[in-house]
Amino acid sequence: MNKKAILLAGGAGTRLYPLTKIVCKQLLPVYDKPMICYPLATLMLGGLRDILIISTPKDLPMLEDYLGDGTRLGVRIAYAAQPKPEGIAQAFLIGADFLGDAGASLILGDNIFYGNLDFYREALALERGACIFGYQVRDPERYGVVEFGPDGRALSLEEKPKEPKSNFAIPGLYVYDGQVVEDCRQLRPSARGELEITDLNLVYLRRNELHVKPLGRGMAWLDTGTQTSLLEAGNYIATIEHRQGLKIACLEEVAFRMNFIDQAALGRIVDGLPKGEYREYLRMVCDEGSAAHHPEPIPL
Ligand code: G1P
Repeated sequence: MNKKAILLAGGAGTRLYPLTKIVCKQLLPVYDKPMICYPLATLMLGGLRDILIISTPKDLPMLEDYLGDGTRLGVRIAYAAQPKPEGIAQAFLIGADFLGDAGASLILGDNIFYGNLDFYREALALERGACIFGYQVRDPERYGVVEFGPDGRALSLEEKPKEPKSNFAIPGLYVYDGQVVEDCRQLRPSARGELEITDLNLVYLRRNELHVKPLGRGMAWLDTGTQTSLLEAGNYIATIEHRQGLKIACLEEVAFRMNFIDQAALGRIVDGLPKGEYREYLRMVCDEGSAAHHPEPIPL
């Protein structure tokens, strides 16, 4: 059965105050587009078309106003509220009806990936178990941390350990089989009152059903958690976009290149856009026609 997707855009964004007093973190700009475009593009590039966006009751209307029901992008977007920040794993309980017994991929609304996404497509193709990833960082104590054994298998997982056992952080991109909702029902809140995603992953690890794939250093996983890292992420995107003349995570382009919408539909979108650089770019994409012109058919 095809997996469904959850994009969790929760949290109060306190570290980015006062920016987040006005608009939620996931709608803040990362260079030339709202932050949420990047994780949404990752899901779409994984081929996922049934997407549930979860956010706070306050922020949902603005997200919905921006993205709608997804029809124009050839996907289905539903919305649900997480009234209190009670943990990432709670997303599967909130989304239980939406998911049914389909497997699920979860992405956090502030996680930006740039590079070849084959690792993600391979994970999505797994029939059984769960798959998470490991990415080398300088400051692992800020994240979930995975320790690998000599055979490459995961030995331990810890959420924000004071003394990390490795430099491999666990990015906010996860893939689970149809067991996930039932497993989340068994979880108990941690000391900080949250259903921890790391506890869910530990359930799979103990069952011997957790794949942990290290991501190569050629992959970019960018942080947006502080003012400085947000600016750095924006500069990174700007650098690549200027160099290539291609946009990263331009949702209409992704929809077109993934064949979720055809050229005529993209043309109608372009006609409806306000005059400016974004419209000019999509006009170029549309006029160029099919992805066949590109040596690398799947962009970000
Ligand atoms: C969450 C998870 C953590 C993960 C991180 C990735 O932490 O709890 O395991 O490594 O996302 O962005 P948060 O940043 O929400 O505190």
